[in-house]
Amino acid sequence: MFNLILFGPPGSGKGTQSEKLIARYGLKHLSTGDLLRSEIAAQSPLGMAAKSIMDKGQLVPDEVVIEMINSALENNPQARGFLFDGFPRTTAQAEALDKLLAQKETEIAIVLALQVSKEELVSRLLNRGKSSGRSDDTNEAVILSRIEEYERKTAVVAEYYDKFGKVVRVKGEGTIDEIFDILSSEIDAKSEA
Ligand code: AP5
Ligand code: MG
Repeated sequence: MFNLILFGPPGSGKGTQSEKLIARYGLKHLSTGDLLRSEIAAQSPLGMAAKSIMDKGQLVPDEVVIEMINSALENNPQARGFLFDGFPRTTAQAEALDKLLAQKETEIAIVLALQVSKEELVSRLLNRGKSSGRSDDTNEAVILSRIEEYERKTAVVAEYYDKFGKVVRVKGEGTIDEIFDILSSEIDAKSEA
């Protein structure tokens, strides 16, 4: 199995690059943001509880997203590998993921961390908010809270994986295709190693 984490702040291009990477490498895309938005669309109790937190730009509790990932791993026994997008977002989530993968006798091969300036993040998200229908994209204060949550709780996850030498930092500004080429060559270098 080849498992990778596409890491980066809100608006850094995780979702955009994930679509292209899963097509090239045949991985199963697991985005906790997308999974939570499906729960909201289904108006499940979990979705309703998550919505009020997401609308404030805060992180939903670790137990909730860890359980969602646990089920997704169980439900995809045939996967050649997983691409994690927007997960893990705290050190506790990273430790839980490592344990779940170890139970399957696999691990994270690489963490690709997209680096984008704060000004560019805000401008991308406000722009997407005009058409995305995502309630957390329309208000600049909520966008800034999401970035603050990232800086306060999520940035440390890269340091956690640095300890295992797994993180490759990639410039996330440029055209979508340029960034995709860089990400692909890092994956190719890793999977040939
Ligand atoms: P989530 O859905 O993960 O959102 P996010 O991290 O805020 O990131 P985005 O999806 O907004 O950005 P992205 O990096 O995917 O960028 P994209 O490719 O879309 O999480 C939403 C919420 O759910 C969280 O706030 C939290 O409440 C909750 N949640 C989710 N996971 C959680 C977890 N593990 N723990 C706790 N809570 C969790 O690109 C953005 C825009 O930029 C697009 O319009 C795109 O077209 C454009 N763009 C992309 N690349 C480029 C480029 N190279 N140049 C110009 N524009 C570009
Ligand atoms: Mg996304």
